[in-house]
Amino acid sequence: MSRLDSFIRRLTAQRDILNHVQADLDLPDNGPVMEIGLGNGRTFNHLREIFPGRRIIAFDRAMGAHASSVPEEGNLVIGEISETAQAYLGVDASLVHADIGTGYPEKDAITLTWLPQLVAGMLARGGVAVSGLPLDDALLVPLPVPASVPKDRYFLYRKA
Ligand SMILES: C[S@@+](CC[C@H](N)C(=O)[O-])C[C@H]1O[C@@H](n2cnc3c(N)ncnc32)[C@H](O)[C@@H]1O
Repeated sequence: MSRLDSFIRRLTAQRDILNHVQADLDLPDNGPVMEIGLGNGRTFNHLREIFPGRRIIAFDRAMGAHASSVPEEGNLVIGEISETAQAYLGVDASLVHADIGTGYPEKDAITLTWLPQLVAGMLARGGVAVSGLPLDDALLVPLPVPASVPKDRYFLYRKA
C-alpha cells in the first residue's frame, strides 16, 4: 500500500471513530477533551465542531496549527507530552484522542512506554480513548470500531 493510501486510511479511520464516539457512545458529563498531538489542528478543528460544548485541551511540542485551529488561551500546552501532560493526570477527561504515531516502530515503541498510562490517568471512569497507536493498559477496555475502519488501523477504548 502506498504511503498516500495509508495516510488516507488513517485520517478516514480517525474521523469515522470520532464521529462514532459523538453519535453513538455516552461520555461522562463535563469532562474536557484532550487532543494529544495538535499538529496542523485539523482534528482539533473537527473535535470543536462535533463537541461544541466541551473544553478541548491540546498538546504538542510546538505550535504548528493553522490560524483557524488554534486553541484558546489556556488550552494549549507546549512541550514534551510525556512531561507536560503529567499535570493533567486526574483531570477526569471525557475523551482523549492521541495521534502521535510516527510510522517508525522503534520511535512508537518508546512512546508506548508512557502513553497508555498517561491516557488512562487523564480519563474519568467511563471516558473514551481514541488512538492511532494501541494502548495496552489494564484500565482501558477495547471497544469495537466502526465497520469502515480497517483492523488495527485506529483504536477505541473505554476506561473501566
Ligand atoms: C500526526 S501529528 C497530529 C496531526 C493532527 N491530528 C492534525 O489534525 O493535524 C502529531 C503531532 O504530535 C506532536 N508530537 C508527537 N509526539 C510528541 C511528543 N512526545 N511531545 C510533544 N509533541 C509530540 C508532533 O509535533 C506533531 O505535531
